[in-house]
Amino acid sequence: MKIGVIGAGTMGSGIAQTFAQTEGYEVMLSDINIELAEAGKARVAKGLARLVDRGRMEQDKADAIVANITPCLNKDLADCDLVVEAALEDMDVKKATFKELDELCKADTIFATNTSSLSITEIGSDLGRPIIGMHFFNPAPVMKLVEVIPGLNTPDELVEKITNISQEIGKTPVKVNENAGFVVNRVLIPMINEAVGLVAENVASAEGVDTAMKLGANHPMGPLELGDLIGLDVCLAIMEVLYAETCDSKYRPHPLLRKMVRGGNLGRKTGKGFYDYSR
Ligand code: CAA
Repeated sequence: MKIGVIGAGTMGSGIAQTFAQTEGYEVMLSDINIELAEAGKARVAKGLARLVDRGRMEQDKADAIVANITPCLNKDLADCDLVVEAALEDMDVKKATFKELDELCKADTIFATNTSSLSITEIGSDLGRPIIGMHFFNPAPVMKLVEVIPGLNTPDELVEKITNISQEIGKTPVKVNENAGFVVNRVLIPMINEAVGLVAENVASAEGVDTAMKLGANHPMGPLELGDLIGLDVCLAIMEVLYAETCDSKYRPHPLLRKMVRGGNLGRKTGKGFYDYSR
């Protein structure tokens, strides 16, 4: 099966790796220019090299996974069997991307979006074919869950197809009916937002909050290191969607979260968030 992954950032390259390491799948990884697509492939190679160094993967296997990913542009995705979009978390960008693909791709290409909180129904509203949410978690090659999210007009057969594909690539699919934040982000991101508030109110340091949640609630990462991993801009965008969709003040983004994003302190990807990654 030929898979097109759109967006070669953290999620897109992780999703590309997930398919590329499963027998029977070949991956086209696209971005707005070929340099970005190649950088996504290089990110996969770097992650796998770390596993080889630690003796957790054979060099041959790592080489085969990397060779199974072809960097490209959207125009090269016409004959893909499934396209998974992991581009910017912006409704206009996603709608325009799928509109372009709708005209370009063969009639039976399946369209899926990795959106972390936007409405599947709205993303698909201008298209001549159905669309579905296929939501992976960061780091995508490691995390077992895929949320499978039908929009209002998504047929049951498409839910079944994506459920089967998710299982084939080693994931556990959970069907989630469309709502802001789906399941995981509706619970997880307000928790991160709350943790930001604890730091802002000087209840504990970032390290203190994270240690408390790791040792007191058995979370593998504290909420602030997790926010840094996800990207504080992504966390803010999800809080904004939760708030806008529900008008419920419990989803108010914390002002410190806004300030961090305005200051460009987005977490690991910019080298600084609640922690410093520059060294
Ligand atoms: N490819 C394949 N396998 C990989 C890999 C890669 N690039 N990187 C790591 N692995 C494997 C390792 O080989 C290891 O496997 P084994 O245990 O079988 O040896 C396993 O993954 C764990 O790797 P590490 O030992 O390097 O890492 P760790 O034990 O310190 O765990 C972690 C790291 C998985 C990130 C863990 O800290 C964790 O689960 N954190 C929470 C992550 C989380 O909550 N993510 C969800 C964020 S929300 C989201 O993403 C949704 C959204 O829309 C915003």
